[in-house]
Amino acid sequence: MDNPKEQWNQRYQEIDRLWISQADPSLVVAVDTLTPGSALDLGCGEGRNSLYLAKRGWNVTAVDFSDVALERLKTAASTAEVSINLVNDDLTEFLKDTKTKFDLVVIANIHPPSEERFQMYSQAKHVVNTGGHIFIIGHHLDALGHIGPPDPDRLLTESEIRRAFADFEITVLTKVSDVADFGHESPSLVALLKAT
Ligand SMILES: C[S@@+](CC[C@H](N)C(=O)[O-])C[C@H]1O[C@@H](n2cnc3c(N)ncnc32)[C@H](O)[C@@H]1O
Repeated sequence: MDNPKEQWNQRYQEIDRLWISQADPSLVVAVDTLTPGSALDLGCGEGRNSLYLAKRGWNVTAVDFSDVALERLKTAASTAEVSINLVNDDLTEFLKDTKTKFDLVVIANIHPPSEERFQMYSQAKHVVNTGGHIFIIGHHLDALGHIGPPDPDRLLTESEIRRAFADFEITVLTKVSDVADFGHESPSLVALLKAT
């Protein structure tokens, strides 16, 4: 099966819950320093980060192309009594078409090949308000062979962030040991980038 949307739907269908339900600890630390506004969660999955932000008063738009993941987030948002704008779309198409700008864009654990990743970064930069932020977390290149995609081209490095966001203020750029999924520790790259 070559269709990434169907591959993701199948992954979600195979298990009741694919990812942990806690928000990413690095996101929690990063947003603690920010005033709630509008947030865009790209590739939100089951929505752990969207839910955290919505509970903290952010007005969240959550984009994913997996119907299964979005349905889970819809249920979780209803249970938590928070409102989240759910968008079932390819994130590249969404970024191309949206006329809205956001105070925070979250790119958490999205691992396309580098060419697509740079395109995603470039598109994301255009939907951030001046003074707003992009938060990125994903498997670091040092995770190669341990966890995450087995292809180095899909893993993140500090140098790619510096290159892609040369026109942004780098507020945070660090490597952390992150619990990426059920109990698996992973060297992850974390970045918080401010649009000036
Ligand atoms: C590894 S999961 C991460 C989920 C969530 N961000 C988190 O950290 O818990 C990647 C998610 O991105 C979604 N995704 C991957 N590529 C996408 C694309 N091009 N457009 C929309 N969603 C995409 C998948 O369906 C999946 O839910």
